[in-house]
Amino acid sequence: MPNSRRPWDLPERLATPEQLVFNRRALLVGGASALALMSGPAIAQRVGDVDKLADPSARLYPAKRNETYKLDRPITDENINTHYNNFYEYGTSKDVATASEKLQTRPWTVKIDGMVEKPFEIGVDDLMKKMTLEERTYRHRCVEAWSMAIAWTGFPLKKLVDFARPLGSAKFVRMETFLDAKMAPGQRMSWFPWPYIEGLTMAEATNDLAFIATGAYGHPLAKVQGAPLRLAVPWKYGFKSIKSIVRFSFVDKQPLGMWQQIQGSEYGFWANVNPAVPHPRWSQATEEVIGTGERRPTLLFNGYGEYVAGIYKGLENERLWA
Ligand code: MTE
Repeated sequence: MPNSRRPWDLPERLATPEQLVFNRRALLVGGASALALMSGPAIAQRVGDVDKLADPSARLYPAKRNETYKLDRPITDENINTHYNNFYEYGTSKDVATASEKLQTRPWTVKIDGMVEKPFEIGVDDLMKKMTLEERTYRHRCVEAWSMAIAWTGFPLKKLVDFARPLGSAKFVRMETFLDAKMAPGQRMSWFPWPYIEGLTMAEATNDLAFIATGAYGHPLAKVQGAPLRLAVPWKYGFKSIKSIVRFSFVDKQPLGMWQQIQGSEYGFWANVNPAVPHPRWSQATEEVIGTGERRPTLLFNGYGEYVAGIYKGLENERLWA
């Protein structure tokens, strides 16, 4: 393949996750079919059908807003948010709203295991009953240099950690997305090491900012947003915010995230936002605010340093920014 057509030579404005999969293995195994999918970002004109009435948790929404976390920009239009997504279980394009309607969100069992007093499973509606839902407005900064602002509803991950009763020896929380290629055709792309996995240290997971979203925009999550529960860690690049979680495991070894496994030279464990540290293939200095046509400077820790910078004291030698 001529050099000029190598995906990693594309300019920054074209950097999308489609290119992220083009490591050597992907080129060998699935490059041709993935190339065929590169149609460019598309923002559809209508909101994906959030089946609000059928969702058994619908009456829990809207929840009272927690005003601690303020935005410096307007909330992204819901219609835009639900038609510009990364949910590789449903394909590598940005508009997977229709494809993700295949996701069956009930029954949905969450498994808690690993280094806990007693492993258990709980249905997502029972879990929500044990938590108090609140609304939070967060920025979201994707590693691809675009951003949005979202009104999530959910509960702090710390509440779930307390509920899980981890042992003192647990050092990390490892989270896992469902694995079911019948429900998620993207999981037939065999060059991805499914299921999607991400992890946090206990200090990160118990920081108040780490949030489990069960809803957005005043109602249950749309499937494309990672229903029925997903992570929102707004000081980190978006790939850390794992969707449609089925398992929380408490472990003593650093979990290996799916992107880190695919391309460890570009996507690491920490993935904290830092405009001064470029991605190997593009700058992280600015971001495109989706839906506005605006480019604005990216902030260190995506602007959440006052809440989270302390976690990383003494870890300066770690690869904190990839
Ligand atoms: N979780 C799963 N299970 N599958 C994914 O493909 N993509 C990640 C993250 N979580 C992803 C995922 C990436 S790269 C980003 S930027 C965010 O989800 C996108 O979240 P959004 O679609 O709500 O903006």
